[in-house]
Amino acid sequence: MEYRNLGKTGLKVSELCLGSMQFGWTADEKLAYEILNAAYAAGINFIDTADIYSRWADGNPGGVAETIIGKWLKKFNVPRDQVIIATKVRGPMGDTPNDEGLSRYHIMRAVEASLRRLNIDYIDLYQTHWYDENTPIEETLRALDDLIDQGKVRYIGASNYPAWRLMQALWASDKHKLASYVSLQPHYNLAHRKEFERELAGVCKTYSIGVIPYSPLAAGFLTGKYRKDELAPDSVRANSAKRRYFNKRGWAILDAVQKVADNYAVSVSRVALAWLLANPIVASPIIGPRTLTQLEDNLGGAGLQLGDDEKAQLDEVSMWEK
Ligand SMILES: NC(=O)c1ccc[n+]([C@@H]2O[C@H](COP(=O)([O-])OP(=O)(O)OC[C@H]3O[C@@H](n4cnc5c(N)ncnc54)[C@H](OP(=O)(O)O)[C@@H]3O)[C@@H](O)[C@H]2O)c1
Repeated sequence: MEYRNLGKTGLKVSELCLGSMQFGWTADEKLAYEILNAAYAAGINFIDTADIYSRWADGNPGGVAETIIGKWLKKFNVPRDQVIIATKVRGPMGDTPNDEGLSRYHIMRAVEASLRRLNIDYIDLYQTHWYDENTPIEETLRALDDLIDQGKVRYIGASNYPAWRLMQALWASDKHKLASYVSLQPHYNLAHRKEFERELAGVCKTYSIGVIPYSPLAAGFLTGKYRKDELAPDSVRANSAKRRYFNKRGWAILDAVQKVADNYAVSVSRVALAWLLANPIVASPIIGPRTLTQLEDNLGGAGLQLGDDEKAQLDEVSMWEK
């Protein structure tokens, strides 16, 4: 495992980050511990979570993934200073108006709840999960800046911001001398490029924002487990893959990735991860393995260097219309 700086910070993160949306959703607690232990043993020092994971699943109140990570840290005596914990705030954690959003009020309550569930006294990277059009960005940044002053948060990051909102935030931080976002967590993979590449990539490059793409395997589509002429296997994630990628463009991309994978005699997912890692503005794709076998496979993506020809073929087949 290699380590990369998170954007312009001095913080070193493993070139793969372990996501945790599946914990307490598609992977139970016991399996989550096994995945966390195996990822940590493989050199992953970067773990991504969110307070809401996975509130959308039946019977899940939210906070479950954070709780599992907190229990794991304690149960396995994981040294706190050997893991970089990234979590998020913004989504609804209850049904009343102030149970969500990026107001000072909600952030101050949400951070305490996340710290408690995670069993830690500081969060390494506190991310705003998506923007809040009803709260001035200055209010959000002031609250986040105070959390850094109080020692409860080390760095702040954004997720799912369009380019203009990210720019607005960077300017506001600059103007008011407040803490500034150091990372962006966008939806970005070989089959979903436009949203990030159209404008956000330029902002991240210009301002040295560390990019930590989520859904790097297109929710499983870029593993090759779904085939054009076959019925999709029954899985909770299959619907999201079907909705987005079961189309002409998606299958053409998958065919091209399969060819490259065959050339290297590796799996499709390793090629998809290697394509992201070949981009110098990407710090650490966030993988979401549901089993130990999937983790094992995903880990291989870190060691694979694509040749220029293969990279060009993949770039071309997945190019988006301007
Ligand atoms: N900021 C945000 O809004 C946001 C949104 C989404 C995710 N995230 C973060 O990003 C992380 C990763 O997202 P993601 O789960 O969408 O990532 P992904 O890597 O695109 O998809 C992971 C899923 O693909 C399938 N898979 C992975 N490796 C496989 C293999 N070798 N063979 C077969 N299937 C395989 C598994 O699903 P099945 O086996 O269940 O089919 C696995 O749960 C999350 O855990 C979370 O931390 C953030």
